[in-house]
Amino acid sequence: MKHLDIREVLNKQELRGQTAVVCGWVRTFRESAQVAFLELSDGTSFQKLQVVIEKGSLAFDPECTKLGASVAVKGVVVQAYKGEGNELNATEISLLGKCPPEYPIQKKRTTLEFLRTVPHLRLRTNTFAAVFRVRSVAAQAIHRYFHEHGYYYINAPLITASDCEGAGEMFRVTTQPWNASYKTEEEYYKNDFFGVKAGLSVSGQLEGEVAATALGKIYTFGPSFRAENSNTTRHLAEFWHVEPEVAFAELPDVIEIAEDLLKYLIGAVLEECPDELRFFDSFVEKGLIEKLRHVVASDFAVCPYTEAIGILQKENARFQFPVEWGSDLQSEHERYLTEQVFKRPVFVTDYPKEIKSFYMKQNADGRTVAATDLLVPGIGEIIGGSEREADPQKLRAAMEERKMDLSAYRQYLDLRTFGTVPHGGFGLGFERFVMYCTGMENIRDVTLFPRSSKNIM
Ligand code: 4AD
Ligand code: MG
Repeated sequence: MKHLDIREVLNKQELRGQTAVVCGWVRTFRESAQVAFLELSDGTSFQKLQVVIEKGSLAFDPECTKLGASVAVKGVVVQAYKGEGNELNATEISLLGKCPPEYPIQKKRTTLEFLRTVPHLRLRTNTFAAVFRVRSVAAQAIHRYFHEHGYYYINAPLITASDCEGAGEMFRVTTQPWNASYKTEEEYYKNDFFGVKAGLSVSGQLEGEVAATALGKIYTFGPSFRAENSNTTRHLAEFWHVEPEVAFAELPDVIEIAEDLLKYLIGAVLEECPDELRFFDSFVEKGLIEKLRHVVASDFAVCPYTEAIGILQKENARFQFPVEWGSDLQSEHERYLTEQVFKRPVFVTDYPKEIKSFYMKQNADGRTVAATDLLVPGIGEIIGGSEREADPQKLRAAMEERKMDLSAYRQYLDLRTFGTVPHGGFGLGFERFVMYCTGMENIRDVTLFPRSSKNIM
């Protein structure tokens, strides 16, 4: 159907005086004695288009005025009576699809909790349409950043036989039901599709390292899967993961890249989504725009884990889980550090090796690894990364300590046998980034169809 995007009709001065056709969904309808106003949205902009109908001048189906109905309107573009944009003086209105009154997206009932029960319709609200426009702009900016900085885009496999994070959170991929005639697990998997135990990837990092140790700088951007039972506002079973991996990079380089990427992405959202951010600033998180501008302008803090524990231990009374050296940081500790102590994003570095993954570079102290988590106010961990262990003996020893099956990681070990180099990278949780930019507090509200334990709507 030949028509113009509402975004264009609203903003293009040169369209004034011309006839245009727009299509969209009815957001409001009001009328007085002489005129009626139909507000339309087609998703292309935060602003809606006001269609002005001179009463008696044209006949149309009354269904065209119902909330949620889809219509096509032909009219003359004119400068809006109020504001700077344009509006449309209707000459023809036709119904595309009527919308009965049981339409769930009513003005009054729209709590976020209720909207989670209608994931297929909630994008028609201001809030969700704005979230998904921001999400799209951020995804484009990710590709642009890496392309502009000489990275290659790699697609890591989603089905894998190796558990990157080693935390036992893999979903299994299988085509066969359990059969009691198998005596051992091994025998069972031998008869399965791949002949070994296979699962959905928790991270593209291990394959990313393969590509980085040939192409230099690469990134992956795709889904990761984690069978975590933690039903929190920050965890999904299926999330999108941005994972750059860089040859010849050490931990300080990894930190520099992460900070630069994050600032670039926030800058892109600030520039390309002003209407959406103004809306989130007014209705979701007061001061959001100021927060984002401040983050782009300031230096992120860096704090070694051991120092962070020192700071937190003085405040142990306030925490549900008191910390000591060796404890994993819980969300409450992460948020205290970034929100109360540093009041800006902070890279915590050099964690105890016992609480981090096998592949991280072992520091000279024998107790810590060259890892970093970036913590941001309101969210906690948004990035996890490290320099990787490049020494084959040390890597093998770390894997043996964790009782890992080395034969499953032969290729990964080969990278250290044949021309090993220092290298590193990180993973940015894409949904957590979108939460940070929009102020949305639940990861389920920045994902089209969120998957979590007992939830696959
Ligand atoms: O800290 P993680 O587990 O690190 C890795 O997977 C590394 N292999 C990354 C790398 O070095 N290439 O995950 C990275 C980020 C987290 O900081 C978090 O933002 C996000 O991924 N994340 C999740 N987001 C939503 N739901 C989940 N269940 C997530 N698990 C991790
Ligand atoms: Mg992590």
